[in-house]
Amino acid sequence: MRGRMLRLKHLSSLVSGLPGAGRPSAAASQSTAYTIERMCGIVGYVGERNSLDVLMGGLRRLEYRGYDSAGVAVIDDEGEIETAKRAGKLQVLADELERHPIHRGGTGIGHTRWATHGGPTDRNAHPHLGDDGRLALIHNGIIENFSELKDELLAEGFAFESETDTEVAAVLLGREYRRTGDLRSAFQAIVSRFEGAFTLLAVHRNEPGLVVGARRNSPLVIGLGEGENFLGSDVAAFVEFTKRAVAIGQDQIVAITADEVTVTDFDGEPVEVEPFEVAWDASAAEKGGWSSFMRKEVSEQPEAVANTLLGRVVDGQVHIPELESFGDDELRAIHRITVIACGTAAYAGMVAKYAIEQWARVPVEVELSHEFRYREPVLDEGTLVISISQSGETMDTLMAVKYAREMGARTISICNTQGATIPRESDAVVYTHAGPEVAVASTKAFVAQIAALYLFGLHLARVRGTLSETELGKQLAELQSVPEKIRTVLGEAEHVGELAHWMADTRSVLFLGRHVGYPIALEGALKLKELAYIHAEGFAAGELKHGPIALIEPGQPVFVIVPSPRGSATLHPKVVSNIQEIRARGARVIAIAEEGDAAVLPFADEVLRIPLAAPLFEPLLAVVPLQIFAMELAQAKGLDVDQPRNLAKSVTVE
Ligand code: F6R
Repeated sequence: MRGRMLRLKHLSSLVSGLPGAGRPSAAASQSTAYTIERMCGIVGYVGERNSLDVLMGGLRRLEYRGYDSAGVAVIDDEGEIETAKRAGKLQVLADELERHPIHRGGTGIGHTRWATHGGPTDRNAHPHLGDDGRLALIHNGIIENFSELKDELLAEGFAFESETDTEVAAVLLGREYRRTGDLRSAFQAIVSRFEGAFTLLAVHRNEPGLVVGARRNSPLVIGLGEGENFLGSDVAAFVEFTKRAVAIGQDQIVAITADEVTVTDFDGEPVEVEPFEVAWDASAAEKGGWSSFMRKEVSEQPEAVANTLLGRVVDGQVHIPELESFGDDELRAIHRITVIACGTAAYAGMVAKYAIEQWARVPVEVELSHEFRYREPVLDEGTLVISISQSGETMDTLMAVKYAREMGARTISICNTQGATIPRESDAVVYTHAGPEVAVASTKAFVAQIAALYLFGLHLARVRGTLSETELGKQLAELQSVPEKIRTVLGEAEHVGELAHWMADTRSVLFLGRHVGYPIALEGALKLKELAYIHAEGFAAGELKHGPIALIEPGQPVFVIVPSPRGSATLHPKVVSNIQEIRARGARVIAIAEEGDAAVLPFADEVLRIPLAAPLFEPLLAVVPLQIFAMELAQAKGLDVDQPRNLAKSVTVE
């Protein structure tokens, strides 16, 4: 059954991508363990262009999502399916395609993979084939019941080349295709049988000019062109060609041809779709002359904060139209806020806790999404659950949001990715406007998340009458001054770089902070771990004497985030005494302190200065040298700062 047909818009951007093309390699190394797909990038295309160019260009922009193997399948102009797949980064596949070109064709699918179990081998790379090689399929997610489906197929005499759950889907789809002779119907017949999370895309040689996809708990977005259509894990896959997009909902099937897009539910019932305009240009997802995405994104932090505030402060008042569904009475009735997030996003939540509690006088707890759902949290209609996610696809956070809604809580999503799943599952979304974040380690999204949460905190404080107009105005002015101050900190990057290069052989680094400096200490340690593979720990400075001080030995580098002497009367001297304590035990102290703070000078080996800011705004500045330090140290060690080992940008399974 056909869903709604969409008219397409012409875009004349040139295709970028890689020259050449190649035949599939039979060479495949063996893997003995079952391979479970965790997080991947997916592209699909139908149109006049050579689909291989579109696929490779899209995969380049999605490589951050997974980068241990890659593959493509193209229906060539002769109507044959040609595939190529290789373990390793996308360049390995590109080199293979140079050596063994495949023929031109206007229909294709492409995949970058990141696996958690089983080696990333040529054989386990996607696409996988079904229907005796007439069908090719790619997959993002985990099919949890693949083992029982595989047994069923084995009993019927089907054979498998790989150990992946994906190949089970390909073979099952091939079997159904033989029965129905129609790719859409075959999809419909199989998708309800899968448990877990999946985005699937497939092509069949009998239906050139058609790509069919389906999704559950895993992202898929359509790009609407003119005389061509696209599919991608996110809009970065096709934004070069079109900025008109449609996010596919949960449990839906999509079919694209060059001129038509149909979306149905798993039962084949048509689904209404709502196109949106992508808010950023293709160039935003390119390196643009920078040596790495991370370096570019660190430098974009002033704009990330400024754009997140843009249009949301009107006549000195916070104005968040996206929150209109939350009436003032409802916001006044909130008696507790629970923030759920993972990793860096959770640290943004920890920073915001201090501000929201201080301004709006509502208790805020911050919980890791994966812990939240499994402890029977106390939730009621007076609890507001705020999720924070750059990607909007983190499965742990998505599941926690769904759970919170089931329990009756109202949910707001702070998210950086338009059309992503978490905002769609929430009652309201406040987008951060950091632009696409491609480097795996989160930087500009972090400061944008804090900015969005601060806006929300000030809005809440106004509604609840907990801050005077004057005080609100003062805090908003502070927030608006942040971009310029971050620019000043970025101006000191060279000094931080020298420090990092000088410390390239360091084996362990500690980070101390207090109050809002504490989550920044945690974030500094996380950045160093993930980028430079160095053991790093962040501690609340007051906790030092309860154990961690035993780690201090002569030469141990310790970063200390020093609170402003102009803030709480007691905090600054306490942290200065912490510095003295560790210094007395031989620590090498690197203090991050505001301009003019002379009290740290006698005890610190190095001082990294940040501009004066009200205490709650210091995290937005203090985090910057820590990001730069981790990035520079990783580069000094010759590591890839955009794609650290074992990590992927969005973790789309639990
Ligand atoms: C660290 C980092 C991760 C993410 C976390 C949540 O640099 O990027 O810790 O912050 O995986 O991801 P999102 O924000 O996409 O939900």
